[in-house]
Amino acid sequence: MATNRTFTMIKPDAVAAGNIGAITKMIQEAGFKIIAMKMTKLSAERAGQFYAVHSERPFYNDLCSYMSSGAIVPMILEKDNAVEDFRTLIGATNPKEAAEGTIRNLFAESIEANAIHGSDSDDNAFIEGSFFFSGLEQY
Ligand code: GTP
Ligand code: MG
Repeated sequence: MATNRTFTMIKPDAVAAGNIGAITKMIQEAGFKIIAMKMTKLSAERAGQFYAVHSERPFYNDLCSYMSSGAIVPMILEKDNAVEDFRTLIGATNPKEAAEGTIRNLFAESIEANAIHGSDSDDNAFIEGSFFFSGLEQY
């Protein structure tokens, strides 16, 4: 299992708003090395698989529609303490609660269209990275 890696995805609202460059710059300036990166689009079915852990939540169908509404930019990132440090960099799920200067504070539109995803554990970073990328060492 890879450690010191996390998985992220720039979400459709931030891609549509033209913020790929600004967000990627923040990620790199915070010390994360980009190991893998691409632009792609999820079907509603694939979005549902990615967020299957939330399938019982009331917002699940909206979340799947939103996540398949436009292009996304998934990435695998490397840094010491990657999972925790990246969650700090992106800020709280709800942008109204996200600390000043965090990615969600600067770029998120709403609790749903919140600009970026960040894995919440080393195990999920591995599972989520493998959902989008293959052929990488330890992925
Ligand atoms: P991710 O990094 O995307 O996993 O976000 P998170 O870990 O900060 O939040 P969580 O895993 O709890 O929720 C996953 C995603 O579902 C969020 O990022 C939002 O896009 C969406 N979401 C979470 N809570 C709500 C909610 O109360 N309402 C709506 N509409 N969407 C929500
Ligand atoms: Mg989450």
